[in-house]
Amino acid sequence: MIEEEKAEWEKRASSKGQNLNSVLLKNLPEELNAYIHKRQLAIIEKSVLNNLDKDIAVLDLCCGYGRISKELKKNKHIKHIVGMDFSRIYCDFFQKNIQSSTVCGDLQALPFQNNSFDLIIGITALMYVKEKNLSQTMQSLNNCLKKNGKILLIDPGFEYRWFVDLFKKNTYGKTSGRSFRYKEYKNLGEESFFRIEKMGGNFAFSFAIPVTLFFLKAGFPIKFLLQFCSLIEDFLKIPPYIALHRWMFLSKD
Ligand SMILES: C[S@@+](CC[C@H](N)C(=O)[O-])C[C@H]1O[C@@H](n2cnc3c(N)ncnc32)[C@H](O)[C@@H]1O
Repeated sequence: MIEEEKAEWEKRASSKGQNLNSVLLKNLPEELNAYIHKRQLAIIEKSVLNNLDKDIAVLDLCCGYGRISKELKKNKHIKHIVGMDFSRIYCDFFQKNIQSSTVCGDLQALPFQNNSFDLIIGITALMYVKEKNLSQTMQSLNNCLKKNGKILLIDPGFEYRWFVDLFKKNTYGKTSGRSFRYKEYKNLGEESFFRIEKMGGNFAFSFAIPVTLFFLKAGFPIKFLLQFCSLIEDFLKIPPYIALHRWMFLSKD
């Protein structure tokens, strides 16, 4: 089964290469994936990188071609980054881009020793874990973190996918993974002995997507609309009940 999924990802890696639509949303226009990319980096910058200790070891879970680690690498407090992905093609890209080691394997069977990392970044990673393996994978992630270690997870929201499905069938493909209900996501963190430090989601952007698609088709600028979405998400502290992507920043006490 995992072989089938791996083959789908190898196909996607070789056809899309090192572009945003290789690892973000395959069918979204470039401008919108660029926005998602920028916002994810902003979350990492604000919630994670601002509070780092010195000389930390980072695991980039389901690392893809290194989209996120390219930025992490610039941080002077990060001493060592390990990428992990089951796609050989992405692992090779990662190694070249980050000049760092990679482990080619399944995130449902993490090969790392306990207390190996200070920080784990899992951007759209947990969504590829089978439901029956979720608790055990969260537990393994907890084990390979050091005491006071942190983990940032970003994954799709179930409620938003359900909503999109009502209007547009067959939007999701073989590499779309699963999505999480708000409560389920939160519970996963808490049940695995993590403390939730922060949670958020791109709720404003999610509902602006149809408008931005219309604007793009009509040739109108979308810059101000996207800026407005960022502002709303940054200043309105609404729990991300409905969002294309939601994130949580967890701490191992
Ligand atoms: C949506 S992409 C995200 C890549 C990267 N985290 C980023 O945000 O740029 C998902 C990645 O997970 C990898 N992947 C999917 N299922 C996996 C599994 N079971 N074990 C390890 N890697 C997996 C894919 O090869 C792909 O690189």
